[in-house]
Amino acid sequence: MIVTIDGPAGAGKSTVARALAKRLGFRFLDTGAMYRAVTLAGMRRKVDWERPDELAELARQAKIDLVGDRVLLDGEDVTEAIRSQEVTLRSCHAAGNPRVRERLVELQRAVAGGTNIVTEGRDQGTVVFPDARCKVFLTASPKERAARRLGDLEAQGEAATLAEVLDAQQRRDRRDSSRSVGPLAKAPDAVELCTDGMTVDQVVDRLVSLVRKRQ
Ligand code: C5P
Repeated sequence: MIVTIDGPAGAGKSTVARALAKRLGFRFLDTGAMYRAVTLAGMRRKVDWERPDELAELARQAKIDLVGDRVLLDGEDVTEAIRSQEVTLRSCHAAGNPRVRERLVELQRAVAGGTNIVTEGRDQGTVVFPDARCKVFLTASPKERAARRLGDLEAQGEAATLAEVLDAQQRRDRRDSSRSVGPLAKAPDAVELCTDGMTVDQVVDRLVSLVRKRQ
Protein backbone atom coordinates (compact mmCIF):
# COMPACT_ATOMS: atom_id res chain seq x y z
CA MET A 1 0.00 0.00 0.00
CA ILE A 2 1.24 3.49 -0.85
CA VAL A 3 0.46 6.47 1.40
CA THR A 4 1.40 9.86 -0.05
CA ILE A 5 1.92 12.98 2.05
CA ASP A 6 2.31 16.26 0.19
CA GLY A 7 2.23 19.85 1.34
CA PRO A 8 4.23 23.06 1.69
CA ALA A 9 7.54 23.37 3.53
CA GLY A 10 7.13 23.66 7.28
CA ALA A 11 3.76 21.89 7.54
CA GLY A 12 5.48 19.15 9.54
CA LYS A 13 5.41 16.57 6.73
CA SER A 14 8.77 14.93 7.41
CA THR A 15 8.26 14.45 11.14
CA VAL A 16 4.71 13.22 10.69
CA ALA A 17 5.45 10.97 7.69
CA ARG A 18 8.40 9.36 9.44
CA ALA A 19 6.38 8.73 12.62
CA LEU A 20 3.42 7.42 10.61
CA ALA A 21 5.64 4.97 8.72
CA LYS A 22 7.06 3.73 12.02
CA ARG A 23 3.61 3.22 13.55
CA LEU A 24 2.38 1.32 10.48
CA GLY A 25 5.59 -0.66 9.99
CA PHE A 26 5.87 0.84 6.49
CA ARG A 27 8.96 2.08 4.68
CA PHE A 28 9.48 5.85 4.65
CA LEU A 29 10.60 7.82 1.60
CA ASP A 30 11.74 11.44 1.98
CA THR A 31 11.72 12.63 -1.65
CA GLY A 32 12.91 16.13 -0.72
CA ALA A 33 16.16 14.49 0.42
CA MET A 34 16.67 13.25 -3.15
CA TYR A 35 16.33 16.77 -4.61
CA ARG A 36 18.67 18.00 -1.91
CA ALA A 37 21.24 15.29 -2.71
CA VAL A 38 21.24 16.25 -6.42
CA THR A 39 21.63 19.91 -5.38
CA LEU A 40 24.60 19.06 -3.17
CA ALA A 41 26.17 17.07 -6.01
CA GLY A 42 25.76 20.16 -8.21
CA MET A 43 27.37 22.42 -5.61
CA ARG A 44 30.33 20.11 -5.19
CA ARG A 45 30.89 19.74 -8.93
CA LYS A 46 30.41 23.50 -9.31
CA VAL A 47 27.83 23.15 -12.06
CA ASP A 48 26.75 26.24 -13.93
CA TRP A 49 23.23 26.75 -12.49
CA GLU A 50 22.24 28.57 -15.66
CA ARG A 51 22.84 25.37 -17.64
CA PRO A 52 20.17 22.85 -16.59
CA ASP A 53 21.74 20.08 -18.72
CA GLU A 54 24.78 19.95 -16.43
CA LEU A 55 22.65 19.26 -13.37
CA ALA A 56 20.48 16.79 -15.29
CA GLU A 57 23.57 14.85 -16.33
CA LEU A 58 24.81 14.78 -12.72
CA ALA A 59 21.42 13.51 -11.54
CA ARG A 60 21.64 10.73 -14.10
CA GLN A 61 25.09 9.65 -12.91
CA ALA A 62 24.68 10.16 -9.16
CA LYS A 63 23.89 7.17 -6.98
CA ILE A 64 21.37 8.23 -4.37
CA ASP A 65 20.44 5.75 -1.66
CA LEU A 66 18.12 6.26 1.28
CA VAL A 67 19.13 3.73 3.90
CA GLY A 68 17.06 3.93 7.07
CA ASP A 69 17.40 7.54 8.21
CA ARG A 70 20.59 8.13 6.25
CA VAL A 71 21.03 9.66 2.80
CA LEU A 72 23.95 8.42 0.72
CA LEU A 73 25.34 10.20 -2.32
CA ASP A 74 27.73 7.99 -4.29
CA GLY A 75 28.22 5.97 -1.13
CA GLU A 76 29.01 8.97 1.12
CA ASP A 77 26.73 9.80 4.04
CA VAL A 78 25.39 13.32 3.30
CA THR A 79 22.44 13.28 5.74
CA GLU A 80 23.59 16.43 7.53
CA ALA A 81 25.22 18.15 4.55
CA ILE A 82 21.96 18.25 2.56
CA ARG A 83 20.23 20.27 5.32
CA SER A 84 22.45 23.35 4.95
CA GLN A 85 20.91 26.74 4.12
CA GLU A 86 22.81 26.83 0.84
CA VAL A 87 21.34 23.50 -0.28
CA THR A 88 17.86 24.74 0.69
CA LEU A 89 18.36 27.89 -1.38
CA ARG A 90 19.82 26.09 -4.38
CA SER A 91 17.35 23.19 -4.39
CA CYS A 92 14.95 25.12 -6.64
CA HIS A 93 17.34 24.37 -9.54
CA ALA A 94 16.90 20.62 -9.06
CA ALA A 95 13.18 20.92 -8.33
CA GLY A 96 12.50 23.01 -11.45
CA ASN A 97 14.57 20.85 -13.82
CA PRO A 98 12.33 18.48 -15.85
CA ARG A 99 15.11 15.96 -16.53
CA VAL A 100 16.14 15.85 -12.88
CA ARG A 101 12.50 15.31 -11.93
CA GLU A 102 12.11 12.56 -14.50
CA ARG A 103 15.12 10.74 -13.06
CA LEU A 104 14.03 11.12 -9.44
CA VAL A 105 10.43 10.12 -10.15
CA GLU A 106 11.78 6.96 -11.76
CA LEU A 107 13.88 6.27 -8.64
CA GLN A 108 10.92 6.95 -6.33
CA ARG A 109 8.71 4.50 -8.24
CA ALA A 110 11.48 1.88 -8.15
CA VAL A 111 11.86 2.26 -4.35
CA ALA A 112 8.10 2.01 -3.78
CA GLY A 113 7.49 -0.92 -6.13
CA GLY A 114 5.46 -3.59 -4.35
CA THR A 115 6.16 -2.35 -0.81
CA ASN A 116 4.16 -0.72 1.94
CA ILE A 117 5.44 2.82 2.00
CA VAL A 118 4.76 6.33 3.26
CA THR A 119 6.20 8.76 0.73
CA GLU A 120 6.51 12.48 1.36
CA GLY A 121 7.08 15.44 -0.96
CA ARG A 122 5.22 17.89 -3.19
CA ASP A 123 4.03 15.77 -6.14
CA GLN A 124 3.65 12.30 -4.68
CA GLY A 125 -0.14 12.09 -4.87
CA THR A 126 -0.45 14.02 -8.12
CA VAL A 127 2.39 12.93 -10.41
CA VAL A 128 4.41 10.09 -8.92
CA PHE A 129 1.71 7.85 -7.42
CA PRO A 130 -1.63 9.00 -8.84
CA ASP A 131 -3.17 5.61 -7.93
CA ALA A 132 -2.01 5.62 -4.28
CA ARG A 133 -4.66 4.18 -1.95
CA CYS A 134 -4.30 6.93 0.65
CA LYS A 135 -3.34 10.53 -0.08
CA VAL A 136 -2.85 13.30 2.44
CA PHE A 137 -2.27 17.02 1.90
CA LEU A 138 -0.76 18.44 5.06
CA THR A 139 -0.89 22.18 5.67
CA ALA A 140 -0.50 24.72 8.47
CA SER A 141 -1.00 28.47 8.55
CA PRO A 142 1.94 30.55 7.22
CA LYS A 143 2.59 31.97 10.69
CA GLU A 144 2.70 28.57 12.38
CA ARG A 145 4.96 27.14 9.67
CA ALA A 146 7.33 30.10 9.95
CA ALA A 147 7.42 29.82 13.74
CA ARG A 148 8.38 26.13 13.46
CA ARG A 149 11.07 26.92 10.90
CA LEU A 150 12.44 29.69 13.14
CA GLY A 151 12.63 27.19 16.01
CA ASP A 152 14.56 24.75 13.78
CA LEU A 153 16.99 27.49 12.70
CA GLU A 154 17.57 28.58 16.29
CA ALA A 155 18.23 24.97 17.28
CA GLN A 156 20.89 24.88 14.52
CA GLY A 157 22.42 28.08 15.92
CA GLU A 158 21.35 30.21 12.93
CA ALA A 159 20.00 33.72 13.52
CA ALA A 160 16.84 34.97 11.77
CA THR A 161 13.68 36.94 12.54
CA LEU A 162 10.09 35.78 12.09
CA ALA A 163 9.59 38.43 9.39
CA GLU A 164 12.59 37.16 7.40
CA VAL A 165 11.46 33.56 7.67
CA LEU A 166 7.90 34.48 6.64
CA ASP A 167 9.19 36.37 3.63
CA ALA A 168 11.48 33.54 2.46
CA GLN A 169 8.67 31.05 3.00
CA GLN A 170 6.25 33.06 0.90
CA ARG A 171 8.73 33.17 -1.96
CA ARG A 172 9.38 29.44 -1.69
CA ASP A 173 5.66 28.63 -1.62
CA ARG A 174 5.09 30.70 -4.73
CA ARG A 175 7.96 28.99 -6.53
CA ASP A 176 6.87 25.50 -5.38
CA SER A 177 3.28 26.01 -6.54
CA SER A 178 3.99 27.76 -9.81
CA ARG A 179 6.73 25.64 -11.38
CA SER A 180 5.71 23.95 -14.61
CA VAL A 181 6.97 20.49 -13.61
CA GLY A 182 5.87 18.65 -10.45
CA PRO A 183 4.32 21.69 -8.75
CA LEU A 184 3.07 21.55 -5.20
CA ALA A 185 -0.62 20.73 -5.52
CA LYS A 186 -3.35 18.87 -3.68
CA ALA A 187 -4.56 15.80 -5.55
CA PRO A 188 -8.36 15.95 -5.97
CA ASP A 189 -8.72 12.74 -3.95
CA ALA A 190 -6.32 13.78 -1.14
CA VAL A 191 -7.54 14.41 2.39
CA GLU A 192 -6.44 17.86 3.54
CA LEU A 193 -5.36 18.25 7.15
CA CYS A 194 -4.35 21.56 8.73
CA THR A 195 -2.01 20.84 11.64
CA ASP A 196 -2.34 24.21 13.42
CA GLY A 197 -2.54 23.66 17.17
CA MET A 198 -2.10 19.89 16.85
CA THR A 199 0.77 17.91 18.36
CA VAL A 200 2.72 15.48 16.18
CA ASP A 201 1.09 12.57 18.04
CA GLN A 202 -2.39 13.93 17.37
CA VAL A 203 -1.66 14.30 13.66
CA VAL A 204 -0.16 10.82 13.46
CA ASP A 205 -3.14 9.30 15.32
CA ARG A 206 -5.49 10.92 12.83
CA LEU A 207 -3.49 9.62 9.87
CA VAL A 208 -3.16 6.11 11.29
CA SER A 209 -6.95 5.83 11.49
CA LEU A 210 -7.30 7.23 7.98
CA VAL A 211 -4.87 4.63 6.60
CA ARG A 212 -6.55 1.79 8.53
CA LYS A 213 -9.87 2.65 6.92
CA ARG A 214 -8.31 2.33 3.46
CA GLN A 215 -6.40 -0.90 4.11
O1 C5P B 1 10.94 19.11 1.51
P1 C5P B 1 12.32 19.67 1.32
O2 C5P B 1 12.49 21.06 1.83
O3 C5P B 1 13.40 18.76 1.82
O4 C5P B 1 12.50 19.76 -0.27
C1 C5P B 1 13.72 20.19 -0.85
C2 C5P B 1 13.44 20.76 -2.24
O5 C5P B 1 12.95 19.75 -3.11
C3 C5P B 1 12.41 21.89 -2.28
O6 C5P B 1 12.88 22.86 -3.20
C4 C5P B 1 11.16 21.24 -2.81
O7 C5P B 1 10.40 22.12 -3.56
C5 C5P B 1 11.72 20.15 -3.70
N1 C5P B 1 10.88 18.96 -3.78
C6 C5P B 1 10.22 18.70 -4.95
N2 C5P B 1 9.46 17.58 -5.08
C7 C5P B 1 9.35 16.71 -4.08
C8 C5P B 1 10.02 16.96 -2.84
C9 C5P B 1 10.76 18.11 -2.73
O8 C5P B 1 10.31 19.49 -5.89
N3 C5P B 1 8.64 15.59 -4.24
